[in-house]
Amino acid sequence: MNNIILCGFMGCGKSTVGKSIARKTGRRFVDMDKYIEEKENMSITEIFAEHGEDGFRDIEHEACKELSERQSLIIAAGGGALTFERNAEVFRGKDTIVLLDVPLETIRYRLRNDKKRPLLQRPDKDEVMKELYDKRMPKYLAAADFVVKGESTPIKTAFSVIDALGLKK
Ligand code: S3P
Repeated sequence: MNNIILCGFMGCGKSTVGKSIARKTGRRFVDMDKYIEEKENMSITEIFAEHGEDGFRDIEHEACKELSERQSLIIAAGGGALTFERNAEVFRGKDTIVLLDVPLETIRYRLRNDKKRPLLQRPDKDEVMKELYDKRMPKYLAAADFVVKGESTPIKTAFSVIDALGLKK
């Protein structure tokens, strides 16, 4: 069976919703960022600090290739992963890509106290988020096979994904 890749902006719920889908469908869940942290034995923050964003993107690309070799996984992609064509290409055709669509205002609220995402640790966080969100949304939409609204609770969103894809519960 193919993998299901959840994509979307930071804070859209990829990991929480992904875990819930996995539990309900008996599939295995993989969080791409955690996979990278374990493989590199460093936190995402440490990877950004040591290798810069470009270094992180190369590591992330390797992770996409490795995970796409596996089957039946529910994968929560990193928020930037599917905005790069080389990563979308890895999954396209073989796996099913689902965008969790959440408005910027909701994302802002969810990430108001975030300390873990290197791209948001800056005084102009609000402007950066808007710029990134506007730039990325068309890319997520281009990569996605399905678009599911993700504003509701993680459990309801998980059921929306399960229904949209016709997955067995
Ligand atoms: C990133 C999102 C993060 C993580 C890294 C970069 C991004 O993942 O991969 O901080 O570029 O949007 P989450 O979407 O899980 O926060």
